[in-house]
Amino acid sequence: MPVVKDIFIALSNNKFMNESAKRMGPALGANKVVAGVDIDSTIETVEKLNMKGISCTLDNLGEFVTSRQEALEAQQNIVEIMRRNYNANIDAHVSIKLTQLGLNIDREFAYQNTREILLKAHEYGNTFVNIDAEKFEDLVGITEIIDRLKGEFKNVGTVIQAYLYDSMNIMEKYSDVRLRLVKGAYKEASHIAYQTKEEIDQNYIKLIERRLLTAKAFTSIATHDHNIINHVKQFVKDNNIDRNSFEFQMLFGFRTDYAYQIASEGYNFCMYVPFGQDWFGYFMRRLAERPQNINLMLLDIFNK
Ligand code: FDA
Repeated sequence: MPVVKDIFIALSNNKFMNESAKRMGPALGANKVVAGVDIDSTIETVEKLNMKGISCTLDNLGEFVTSRQEALEAQQNIVEIMRRNYNANIDAHVSIKLTQLGLNIDREFAYQNTREILLKAHEYGNTFVNIDAEKFEDLVGITEIIDRLKGEFKNVGTVIQAYLYDSMNIMEKYSDVRLRLVKGAYKEASHIAYQTKEEIDQNYIKLIERRLLTAKAFTSIATHDHNIINHVKQFVKDNNIDRNSFEFQMLFGFRTDYAYQIASEGYNFCMYVPFGQDWFGYFMRRLAERPQNINLMLLDIFNK
């Protein structure tokens, strides 16, 4: 349903809607996929997941950062959640978005903000910090910053989007960096990215297989797609790949029972847990990926 997808992507990019939704707090069912608006409730969620043998990567939600002040506040929130994780002794690290740290304001400023987070991560238990992939227009800025940071820090990694024609080259460049492999969540033009599910899935499998056979660093396979997950399980078995060289990842609130099942089978599993007030853009991207997720919204409206 490409038209429906386009509508949700357009909504995710609408600044007015994002700002209004922020004031309202998670609604329309978003509370089922956002762990909480504050750090306390987020830590409670992580503790519950840890008890199921699932580690977490925490995303401090934030869209449309246009001032240095907002970027610095985001950086401080991220440092604060790392400090609280460390004190609570939970199994969690952070996933960050460089646009939230000022990438589109001043690249050097975003680099310094990210570096500060990495220094603090070192202080708080040397935890891993993942730099999420965003729109293609931000890719050059993101990779430039990662290239500077990876020389200095071992605890930094990033994400490869399988819909990009260039994804294999980007992945190969980062063979010694911890990577998350995803299909890709944004709307990109046909001269940049595959457009059909079949092409994206095919490339995604190609990337996963190549990475698992050749990487010198840990890999996260982030998908809710049971066909891909089953394929990976079989591939790993057939090729004697060490289960500790990779993990599966899913987004909080989607296919939770399936996530528990995979973890109980002895695979490493990590849940991506978003938290904070700025839920609208994130939620709209999830609806764009899978319009059936509108169920979450309908259940919320009719249960009122
Ligand atoms: P996809 O949407 O392709 O669905 C494939 C099939 O899986 C469906 O047909 C259905 O059968 C099944 N399925 C999927 N969802 C289901 C559900 N909720 N219930 C039941 N069945 C379901 N993107 C990005 O651009 N940058 C990033 O940094 C990240 N980070 C990230 C982290 C994590 C942990 C995840 C899981 C995803 C991301 N993404 C991302 C998003 C990613 O790029 C992609 O858009 C979504 O994961 C959707 O693709 P899937 O592979 O999950 O399934």
